[in-house]
Amino acid sequence: MLETISSPIPAPVADARRLHDEYVFPCAKPYYAEPIVLTEASGVRVRDDRGREYLDLFAGILTTSVGHCHPEVVERVTEQIRRLGHTSTLYLTEGQGAVAERLARIAPGRLKRAFFTNSGSEAIETAITLAQMYTGRSEIIALRYAYSGRTILTGNITAHSTWRPLESQIAGIKHAKGPYPYRCPFHDPCDGSCVDRFARELVEVIETTTSGRPAAFIAEPIQGVAGYVVLPPAYVRRAAEIIRSYGGLYISDEVQTGFGRTGDHWFGIEHSGVEPDIMVMAKGIANGFPVGATLTTDEIAAAWSSKTISTFGGNPVCMAAAEATLDVLMRENAPARAAERGAQFRAGLEALQRRYPWIGDVRGMGLMQALEIVDDPVAKTYSAARANALLEAAKEEGLLIGVGGRYGNVIRMGPSLLITEDEVAEGLEKLARACAKVA
Ligand SMILES: Cc1ncc(COP(=O)(O)O)c(C=O)c1O
Repeated sequence: MLETISSPIPAPVADARRLHDEYVFPCAKPYYAEPIVLTEASGVRVRDDRGREYLDLFAGILTTSVGHCHPEVVERVTEQIRRLGHTSTLYLTEGQGAVAERLARIAPGRLKRAFFTNSGSEAIETAITLAQMYTGRSEIIALRYAYSGRTILTGNITAHSTWRPLESQIAGIKHAKGPYPYRCPFHDPCDGSCVDRFARELVEVIETTTSGRPAAFIAEPIQGVAGYVVLPPAYVRRAAEIIRSYGGLYISDEVQTGFGRTGDHWFGIEHSGVEPDIMVMAKGIANGFPVGATLTTDEIAAAWSSKTISTFGGNPVCMAAAEATLDVLMRENAPARAAERGAQFRAGLEALQRRYPWIGDVRGMGLMQALEIVDDPVAKTYSAARANALLEAAKEEGLLIGVGGRYGNVIRMGPSLLITEDEVAEGLEKLARACAKVA
């Protein structure tokens, strides 16, 4: 729990709303009719500049994996920044190798070579470039509803018109339709038989919209921005077989699903048993410090033939944060904790669904759980208005949650993986009160 509010509030904080409105790109839109200025945090608690406290079930978009300002992360980062703050990748530092070794320990199979950048977008750029170099091909297949980031390339892999930066398209990126079990076009409720049809769709996309020689297929095991659309493991297995049969690589985007988030395993793709060729990660890797990582095999990593540097990639301070975060996650057995607390959370969300028919779907895995909000549970009409009202009502109750989905009608949650039983119960109570307000 936070014990004190820093006082007095420093001038820049008092002015934060005005300065943001006046000087920051208008596209950088914060949540809420009246945005929150966060000034302090600890664990799953955050506090704003007006002294209001919130239970944080969104964790800065699934990022503060061991809780805000975890003492071990703070201590290691502070100690590091006093000693050495920056080197660039032209010099060896203690941190990069140590973090890469930890990633190799928890990653599936032969994935053991890491390249560090500063964000998920850059980690994906690295993965795509590498896949192209390794295969000598250029075409990429992604799924509709994917979110990959905000650079030109990742913005083009992103398959939500609202998140795509430009009308123009980068040649060579094709999108296949993937399963969305709640809105299964073939069987309602989805019985899994659609996997064959979506596998055929992937083949069709490769054979009709590419040269038939794709470099890679990229997918999130759970499509995060899409509103936690869980890809059936059987589909992931089929997609891996298909892309490999055409000579391409399988890239798993673990930016949201990594580090135990989905429960029982360290990475989301492990639920399918598929060992990807390349994995990308960011968000939860360093508890809020900017780190992106691309992980692959010795053989694939060796295919990067040009010179490359990342000035800030593998920065010693960020690596200290990643090392401390990974140590805590491993010691606390994050996958097991996420499975246990996730089951508690899920049971509470399903109880809410039984009370409110406008909660059309409860879905996700582990501590990555979502509610799809609809006007009519039979017609499944998207209700962004009620989802937004729920976001605001939760804020009034002192609860931070997220929103997503193609039509902005999905409530997304993903707290620290160290959240306790009591904190989950408290979150559910606050959410229940917010639901009652918008019922
Ligand atoms: C699945 C996924 N991939 C990639 C990204 C891009 O990461 P970043 O915002 O760190 O560039 C995100 C960001 O939300 C994401 O959810």
